[in-house]
Amino acid sequence: MTWKTTNNEMRGMLTAETIHQVRQALEPSRGKHTIGFVPTMGALHAGHVELIRTARRECATVVVSLFVNPIQFSPNEDFQQYPRPLEDDLRICNDAGVDLVFVPSVEQMYPTSCRTAVHVSDITESLCGASRPGHFDGVTTVVAKLFNIIQPDRAYFGQKDAQQALVVRKMIADLNFPIRLHVCPTARDAAGLALSSRNRYLSDEQRNQALCLYQALRLAKEAIGSGERDSEPIIKKMRQIIEVAGPAKIDYISIVDSDTVQAVRRIDRPVLIALAVQIGPARLIDNIMLDAAGREITIKDLAIQA
Ligand code: PAJ
Repeated sequence: MTWKTTNNEMRGMLTAETIHQVRQALEPSRGKHTIGFVPTMGALHAGHVELIRTARRECATVVVSLFVNPIQFSPNEDFQQYPRPLEDDLRICNDAGVDLVFVPSVEQMYPTSCRTAVHVSDITESLCGASRPGHFDGVTTVVAKLFNIIQPDRAYFGQKDAQQALVVRKMIADLNFPIRLHVCPTARDAAGLALSSRNRYLSDEQRNQALCLYQALRLAKEAIGSGERDSEPIIKKMRQIIEVAGPAKIDYISIVDSDTVQAVRRIDRPVLIALAVQIGPARLIDNIMLDAAGREITIKDLAIQA
């Protein structure tokens, strides 16, 4: 492959396809400047851009990876269909001021002899871990590899995938990665739908229907704000909102402890209220995190439980 440097339009942004090229490109920055890293699977949207902008504000060098990671998809999932609009993604990165984009091939990331995986226990078993076996092992393995390749000082993740952020936070602590994790709030469209690369799968009608996820979360927040502390009636009302909105397959609607990610019956501590719903071709997830008083918080506000 050729080492793609810049043309007039893409001023200053490098694109690397190999690990060797990433190491070469970052060599001058190492130990001198703060390196910020935003791992993504591409099909970038305004939520990703928010992460990149935050990294841009805080770091001298900003690296983005675009890699649809096969090992975090089950055989029946959308690995093949997952959108890969590379030219658009590179333009978005360039416009957001990214310094280096890492676009590895599957062979580059997983040579045939790779036999090692990173597994975070317990907090990966509920929510998405229950319905997507092996998913979080795929995420932590690729994120650990990317951390070792890029060796960033800071890494930027989204609250949108709250369980993923909690799992990565635990991996960073347990494996002593010298990396500061920054979790950015969920970016939503004007109607409240959480931005997601998978929203591209939705028809206009399904997109409208998908607003029910955030409506259900808002209802939960209001109920807790008005003093409700039992999970069960809240989950029941959330379920009704999803069912009334149209045909959908509810994977889970859960209220869990924000550290252990275990279901709670009484809301007397910070909780993550999360749901996963299949609408047409898209499996959509969304969540909010509330403190014991029902105020919205993000993972950033939680004390690190190493
Ligand atoms: P991807 O779904 O592309 O998301 C990349 C990052 O963007 C994640 O940290 C995700 O939480 C964040 N993000 C996505 N939508 C967001 C939104 N609406 N608001 C705020 N942040 C948002 O998550 C992955 O890729 C992969 O699992 C990855 C970590 C790259 C490992 O393969």
